[in-house]
Amino acid sequence: MKPLSIIVLAAGNSTRLKSQLTKVLHPICGRPLIDYVLETARSVRPRKISVVLGNDREKVQAHLQAQKGAAKDLSFAHQKERRGTAQATQVGLKALGKISGHVLILSGDVPLLRPETLKRLLRLGAARPLSLVTAVLAAPFGYGRIMRDLEGRVCGIVEEKNASPEEKQINEINAGIYCVEAAFLKKALAQVRPDPVKKEYYLTDIIAYAVKQGLPVHTIAVDDAYEILGVQLLGNTQVGRSCHIGPGSILINARLGEGVQVKAYSHLEDCTVKSGAVIGPFARLRPASIVEEEAHVGNFVELKKTRLGKGSKANHLSYLGDAVIGRGVNIGAGTITCNYDGKNKFQTYLEDGVFVGSDTQLVAPVKVGKGAYIGAGTTVTMDVPAGSLAISRVPQRNIPGYKK
Ligand code: UD1
Repeated sequence: MKPLSIIVLAAGNSTRLKSQLTKVLHPICGRPLIDYVLETARSVRPRKISVVLGNDREKVQAHLQAQKGAAKDLSFAHQKERRGTAQATQVGLKALGKISGHVLILSGDVPLLRPETLKRLLRLGAARPLSLVTAVLAAPFGYGRIMRDLEGRVCGIVEEKNASPEEKQINEINAGIYCVEAAFLKKALAQVRPDPVKKEYYLTDIIAYAVKQGLPVHTIAVDDAYEILGVQLLGNTQVGRSCHIGPGSILINARLGEGVQVKAYSHLEDCTVKSGAVIGPFARLRPASIVEEEAHVGNFVELKKTRLGKGSKANHLSYLGDAVIGRGVNIGAGTITCNYDGKNKFQTYLEDGVFVGSDTQLVAPVKVGKGAYIGAGTTVTMDVPAGSLAISRVPQRNIPGYKK
């Protein structure tokens, strides 16, 4: 096989992520994003990998160079100004020096790409001028769309910002992963002009250039679109500074304050989590829930239309629906708000400092006053005055000699 080189584009300035940490250094399952990309890159045994970095290059470079015996195949390129993927590729190409054969171009922020997919691209692309990876997405917003002629041949890529309403309907997208013959790449990049709308040099313009030259453009489609997704939070999700989001968690229209921890496998939708709160693992925040500062929502706890006050804790196995919970409240394991009588929903109010013992049912509508205690195993069916103890369980009886 002819020599293979790889360019990893990682000079994007993480503006959409709005994080203090460079995007490619964000840990996923404990490892920085870029490590996954390089592992996949190395699986096809390239001669050399050129990593294109932007303003935070020192940190990324230091991280990669600190890896045991790994830096030998890497060269680093600095894209001083973010002027588009074509310009980044050009910078990366320069750092590779004199090359022949093919170049694989990867995005530094697409960590789930599988080595099998790259190998498949290479098998197709190694004897062709230009091949790329595509995916069919139900929601293709933001991606470049693959344009095909009536025979199904690729004739170009149109970016979201430049697409007409009809073009926006196209579901086949460009994954940003290419296999290009080095000599053609060099020639094609020299032809790219800045886009009139975004003023950036689009790497995708090399596709239209190939077509103009009468060269065929080949594609492979990924089986599972998740493989090519970048780092994504769904809907209108906002994440404050220094938050940590564990693996398998899904955030849809969630608003997170600063320093929030969302532990693994939590599902948050249309909700607000304020600074310093801890969610999960395995927690569910349903719409209209608000978790105030420093509050804890632990494993197998579900909140629906509920406000959990500052510093309050519901750490295990609970359902809290249509509830207003004050500050410093402790919700014991297995607490259930019985908010629904089969017809209507009712509210539960727990004032500041309430202590709810384990395995409590709160039959709404009900109010528990400030600082009151609920004994474990109680079914609360009437309001509890502030400072008192409510207990409804049957007193324990021990029957001596029962076994005999
Ligand atoms: C690009 C493609 C789009 C494709 C999408 C897939 C172009 C013009 N568009 O979109 O068709 O659907 O990727 O994710 O190429 N980068 C740099 N320097 C730059 C700009 C970007 O290094 O000046 C890097 C980024 O860090 C990232 C990659 O290139 O790793 C892609 O950049 P991004 O801004 O995410 O992609 P788009 O240009 O929006």
